[in-house]
Amino acid sequence: MTAPSLETKLCGITLRNPVLAASGTFGYGIEFAELVDLNRLGGILTKGLSREPIAGNPAPRLWTTASGMMNSVGLQNVGVEAFIREKLPQLSRYKVPIFVNVFGYRPEDYVEVVRQLEDAEGVCAYELNVSCPNTDHGGIFFSNDPALLSDLLERVRPVATRPLFVKLSPNVSRIEPLAKAAEVAGADALSLVNTFVSLAIDVNTRMPRIGAGFGGLSGPAIKPIALRLVYEASQAVAIPIIGLGGIANGTDAAEFLIAGATAVQVGTASFIDPRAPLRVAQQLGRFLQRQNVARVSDLVGTLRFPHKQPQCKMKP
Ligand SMILES: Cc1cc2nc3c(=O)[nH]c(=O)nc-3n(C[C@H](O)[C@H](O)[C@H](O)COP(=O)(O)O)c2cc1C
Repeated sequence: MTAPSLETKLCGITLRNPVLAASGTFGYGIEFAELVDLNRLGGILTKGLSREPIAGNPAPRLWTTASGMMNSVGLQNVGVEAFIREKLPQLSRYKVPIFVNVFGYRPEDYVEVVRQLEDAEGVCAYELNVSCPNTDHGGIFFSNDPALLSDLLERVRPVATRPLFVKLSPNVSRIEPLAKAAEVAGADALSLVNTFVSLAIDVNTRMPRIGAGFGGLSGPAIKPIALRLVYEASQAVAIPIIGLGGIANGTDAAEFLIAGATAVQVGTASFIDPRAPLRVAQQLGRFLQRQNVARVSDLVGTLRFPHKQPQCKMKP
């Protein structure tokens, strides 16, 4: 068999492979240029950008757990203006699709960041991080309320000429209503999942291990839950899903594709090995070869249940 093709399409964008570097774990991309051949990546999701620069949360910001990592960086970033002026021109020299992660605390914040990015060259799509409290609505997270999510997207959609990915939170009891709300309000793709809210305690001081109190859990510990959420969302919507959560090797990536993801992202694994997204893509290629699968898209959504599809039913 000839070498399998890893090339795939995501919202009309051609990716040389379906493995992207996840937001917040790969800086603005350029910091990694000396360590990784950026031109060989499937794509880069930038660190989340806000309207104004943000200094971030007090230390400690990271804590390692038994099979994952907790963080509360506090969305530190240079702000959209500085990104467009200083980071994007350097990043645009590479032949790698750039996806800009955007967040805010009011719909106007998202609209303004996207509006400024619209005038910039070298951006393929936006990924909206909606795991933020809406300060106009008593701090309810956009990602937890289908009505708030719809309202946000209905305001951002008319401003964005590029594809809009919506990155959903896993901290919900059911993902389907959120996935559907995003699709109906104009999302072109969903990214699933962001981190899980978590707590680690220092028993000597009886204080949280993370300076800000709670942190977001990521890494291998969350993979099975992320896979379940990707599968459920893929059954609820027709738009593509970008799966992430604990992917550290090619088999992990294959699991997400089989569960229904069109592409995947690698996050925490890049902290251990900056070349992790490239290595995952290479391993995925070898997996396809061993399985006699010609194209990576042939793997997407091929999960087979031995019996009737499992449902979570409450006992009476
Ligand atoms: C240190 C750190 C910073 C992150 N910053 C962002 C961010 O700015 N925007 C965002 O949407 N997700 C952010 N994330 C979440 C990741 O992109 C990803 O959704 C999550 O870590 C799960 O994937 P993983 O297990 O492969 O890391 C961050 C994660 C980490 C560990």
